[in-house]
Amino acid sequence: MTSFAQLSDPHLRAGRDDRGAARALEIAVAAVLDLHPAPDAVLVSGDVGEHGDPAEYGMARDLLAPLPMPVHVLAGNHDDPEALCEAFGTPARYTAEIGELVLVACDTPLPGRLEGRLDLDWLEAQLEATRGRPVVVAMHHPPLLTGIPVLDEIGLPAEQRAALAKLLGRFPDVRRVIAGHVHRTAFAVLGGCGVVTAPSTNLQARLEIGGEAFEFRPEPPGFLLHVELGNELVSHLQTLPRDD
Ligand SMILES: [Fe+2]
Ligand SMILES: [Fe+2]
Repeated sequence: MTSFAQLSDPHLRAGRDDRGAARALEIAVAAVLDLHPAPDAVLVSGDVGEHGDPAEYGMARDLLAPLPMPVHVLAGNHDDPEALCEAFGTPARYTAEIGELVLVACDTPLPGRLEGRLDLDWLEAQLEATRGRPVVVAMHHPPLLTGIPVLDEIGLPAEQRAALAKLLGRFPDVRRVIAGHVHRTAFAVLGGCGVVTAPSTNLQARLEIGGEAFEFRPEPPGFLLHVELGNELVSHLQTLPRDD
């Protein structure tokens, strides 16, 4: 059995007023360490830091250091991809083996922009290369609509979601598309494939369908645990206590 935990959007801030981000990530890491069996890997799906400051990535490395399993990261719109990749010694986009699963980590941030863009040609090439193996596709910007316009306006463009739906329809071995960015857990189906977003390890976005204002709420943080069970993948939401 293969499993991995997905932590997302810690938004670490260097300095005194970090809005609880470091403590919240510490709690999430402790909860992952408490899992039995231990997951085979951990993915941090973007917005690792709030300002893209290398000091934030130093904090992230320190806070994630207790995890004995491989830790994969990908950049979000708040990150400086170069600084993040340098701190973690990782390329901006890559495939990684997690037990029997293949993780395809896409880079979606655009410099200076909140919304994302997906390199569909690159993703298609990775899916061709791993055909026949169970794959999880990860990206920061989710290819789903939440119904919360303030979040959907800073997601992936509609034409890219449509193109990804077509692509996923050709690759039935993709078990799930997983993402972050929206600071909530949401689920949809795209091209026959389940798409799920992870909550933030710290602050959650207010649930207001049709909402136009972005508002963070001190709702319970959490993370996802993805578990491959033979020929299917289940994604669990584990909520966490807040320490404030
Ligand atoms: Fe975020
Ligand atoms: Fe984001």
